[in-house]
Amino acid sequence: MATPARSSPYGSGDPYYTESTGFLTSQSAKKGVSNWIKIGVPVAILVIIGAVVGGVVGSRHHSSASGAASSQNPAAAASSVASVKNAVGIYPTGTNSQYMLPLYPSTTNTAAFTSPTFVESNNAAVSWPSDPFQPANPSPTNLRTDRPRLIAPAYKWAALPQLIQNDPYLKSWNATIFGNATEYYNLPVVQYFMDGDSGILDNARYIKQRVKAFAYVYRMTNDTKWVDRTFQELQNAAGNGSQPFGPSDNTKWNPAHFLDTAEMTAAFGIAYDWLYDVWTPEQKSQIMSTMITYGLSLGVSALTNDPNYWGWWKNNTQGNWNCVCNGGLTLGALAILGDDTTGTASQILGLTVPNANANCVDAVTTDGSWTETPNYWYFGTTGHAEMTSSLITAAGSDFGLLKTNTNFQQTGMFHMYVNGPGTLFDWGDHGPNKYTATANSIMFYADQFTLPQYMLYQRDQHDAAEPWSMFWYDPGVTGAFWDGAPLDHFFDDGLDQWASMRSTWTDENGLFVAMKAGKNQGHQTHNDLDCGDFVFDALGHRWAGELGSGDYRSPNYFSNDTQTSDRWKYYRKMTEGQNTILVNQANQNVASAPTVKHDTTGEAQGSSTVYTVPKGSVAYWTADLSTAYFDVTSFSRGVRLLNNRKQVLIQDEITATASVMWRMHTNATVTTSGTSATLQLGSETMTVQILNPPSGASFSTMQAVRFATDPTPPVPDQPNPGVTVLVINLPAGTYTLEVLFNPQWSGMSSSDFVTPPNVPLASWSLTSHN
Ligand SMILES: *[C@@H]1O[C@H](CO)[C@@H](O)[C@H](O)[C@H]1NC(C)=O
Ligand SMILES: *[C@@H]1O[C@H](CO)[C@@H](O)[C@H](O)[C@H]1NC(C)=O
Ligand SMILES: *[C@@H]1O[C@H](CO)[C@@H](O)[C@H](O)[C@H]1NC(C)=O
Ligand SMILES: *[C@@H]1O[C@H](CO)[C@@H](O)[C@H](O)[C@H]1NC(C)=O
Ligand SMILES: *[C@@H]1O[C@H](CO)[C@@H](O)[C@H](O)[C@H]1NC(C)=O
Ligand SMILES: *[C@@H]1O[C@H](CO)[C@@H](O)[C@H](O)[C@H]1NC(C)=O
Ligand SMILES: *[C@@H]1O[C@H](CO)[C@@H](O)[C@H](O)[C@H]1NC(C)=O
Repeated sequence: MATPARSSPYGSGDPYYTESTGFLTSQSAKKGVSNWIKIGVPVAILVIIGAVVGGVVGSRHHSSASGAASSQNPAAAASSVASVKNAVGIYPTGTNSQYMLPLYPSTTNTAAFTSPTFVESNNAAVSWPSDPFQPANPSPTNLRTDRPRLIAPAYKWAALPQLIQNDPYLKSWNATIFGNATEYYNLPVVQYFMDGDSGILDNARYIKQRVKAFAYVYRMTNDTKWVDRTFQELQNAAGNGSQPFGPSDNTKWNPAHFLDTAEMTAAFGIAYDWLYDVWTPEQKSQIMSTMITYGLSLGVSALTNDPNYWGWWKNNTQGNWNCVCNGGLTLGALAILGDDTTGTASQILGLTVPNANANCVDAVTTDGSWTETPNYWYFGTTGHAEMTSSLITAAGSDFGLLKTNTNFQQTGMFHMYVNGPGTLFDWGDHGPNKYTATANSIMFYADQFTLPQYMLYQRDQHDAAEPWSMFWYDPGVTGAFWDGAPLDHFFDDGLDQWASMRSTWTDENGLFVAMKAGKNQGHQTHNDLDCGDFVFDALGHRWAGELGSGDYRSPNYFSNDTQTSDRWKYYRKMTEGQNTILVNQANQNVASAPTVKHDTTGEAQGSSTVYTVPKGSVAYWTADLSTAYFDVTSFSRGVRLLNNRKQVLIQDEITATASVMWRMHTNATVTTSGTSATLQLGSETMTVQILNPPSGASFSTMQAVRFATDPTPPVPDQPNPGVTVLVINLPAGTYTLEVLFNPQWSGMSSSDFVTPPNVPLASWSLTSHN
């Protein structure tokens, strides 16, 4: 069981976990109508704590955050956890934000919103019992004797019904899973569909999603109709249904795109294991033989002698493939070990565990970032968490998967900081459909690394409701993730240097700016040529945004990440398609190796969701991007929050021997007038101004399409409807470009905005613009 956390992945000196940050101000806030919600009305927010619960649990709860109450009076601490959760309820979801982020209530409630904490307790009403299976010398082939083995052992199923009664999250997720399972029940079995380069990955993930839901509902009801429906799905995917499914040789599960094979193997493994007690001996042998023929035996050849190159991912450290492939094979093998008389399952476990330790775990860089992109993080961490959680429950150890890369625990922080008030800083490719990929891996990591803030963050997200969460969530978690969460974080690993800066964690109308540098190679060909790229959220809107993936089926879209790759001829992947400087209307150098500098006054949000940025609060980040360009003698870009995080300055200092173009993509309606531009989104306005404009500098707009003079990509680009490019166009020369962004916050008059002094990037400091 998790114990109260006192360490922080945010680094030493980090204010997270201090009881009082000194920056906390609480006052009643104006709350506008969220612009992230356009459709749907949030369900009632049950914030009624104040008098009712606050008086009762307030002081006790506060001390439980330091561990005191839990050691003195575990039952009292546990019962306060339960009452606070039930009184607060679950936050509604912003249905129009791309990632349907939660809408936090605008309230000051120190009783509920305390430091993230796991309450230790022996109280079965609010926390899991400990696992009776604790082998002294764990081995991946020495498994617990009871079923299920994968993720959800019998002792957890036994405890679950009572925990559901006492936890609004578990209650709601349980109901959602039942609803989802009922919906899938009435659908026809998954139809075979080979989708170009994406293969049958959607098929495999659909089947896995259904199997998880059906098996969950069976175990919660004992109604065998769910078992029968699961078997229909498995028979169909084995090619034994009423319609064909794939080739009639051992490539049925498309091993050439091994993710498909691995996800199908995972689905069969979960079905075999969770429904073990109800399958007939014949069904068991059918599920097992199908899984060995189309999955595990191909896994053995992929990981050993591999004439077909199906296992190209076996020495790949660049992201999700190694995690998903080893994960699926591991789930399948753990499910049948002991019943399998061919030796395949034990052979697989001898291969996948060391292979994932040498590759998958390194997809997290030294600062917690995911090697590919923020969206691919979902797939990779889901694969890693499923594999690791299954090994822990089945064999009693993570076998290094959580410890080999000591930076792994920071990846939940990567996910939290890459999210703005309405959506991700979604650089690069976005990946396939997320049918079974969620962010729930961070609930598992929260428990394993004792980082309760991850658990608190994720439990309110729209993708929290699925069978894994029912077992990864610890109902003994309490507090608010934002209590003590620093507003800024800088990610410094050379692969993806990037900055995340905000004015609040809990107001969807707040300000968020994120900018990146990093290397243009080494991201599994999922990145863009985008050093200097940024996103900007304010007033409930995204003002500067990403264009996302191109069409994955476009020829040579994934060919490689060398300078001449066709990938870099597609607008959304070109430097032209990013919010950065374009030199000579040409792509950036793929061999970029920027250096960065940054600082922050270091505020953290306090207990209240109502947060006012204190006077003097500053953060900035600068990058020397010279190596990312051709025809450039020197180029640095900086981004800075001004006026207590209400305004933003982006400053470029460049000497170029070819044309220079400042570009920003926006969904806003743009009006330009010389050195000013006015951006309109819904009823909100932002003005943008070039300060100290160099001669000839003014704003204009362009369409988000390639220049006629650009090399032609193999097939036409996807259109970018509604997107305008705000541009400053200059000939070769030496320039300082200072672009000031002023979101028109309500209640702020023009004299409340500041005009910063002109300070060279090299002289930026926390006080340089006072
Ligand atoms: C889970 O949800 C289903 C459907 O809403 C409900 O019938 C069942 O009672 C719930 N289980 C528990 C333990 O509450
Ligand atoms: C599961 O049910 C919820 C609640 O009805 C719904 O919002 C969600 O889209 C469903 N998920 C899937 C994958 O069908
Ligand atoms: C299902 O069956 C198991 C084993 O017989 C039993 O322990 C459990 O209480 C039953 N669950 C329900 C919801 O009937
Ligand atoms: C499908 O049919 C084949 C051939 O009869 C059999 O070997 C296999 O076990 C069956 N699998 C399932 C899941 O029905
Ligand atoms: C993986 O191994 C292959 C063949 O041995 C080699 O060509 C390739 O460079 C290796 N890739 C990495 C990322 O080490
Ligand atoms: C436009 O809005 C969509 C939907 O919110 C978002 O995904 C996209 O990134 C935005 N585009 C730009 C250029 O801001
Ligand atoms: C990279 O891909 C392009 C096509 O997009 C191809 O012409 C080139 O030969 C490839 N380079 C390498 C090193 O594979």
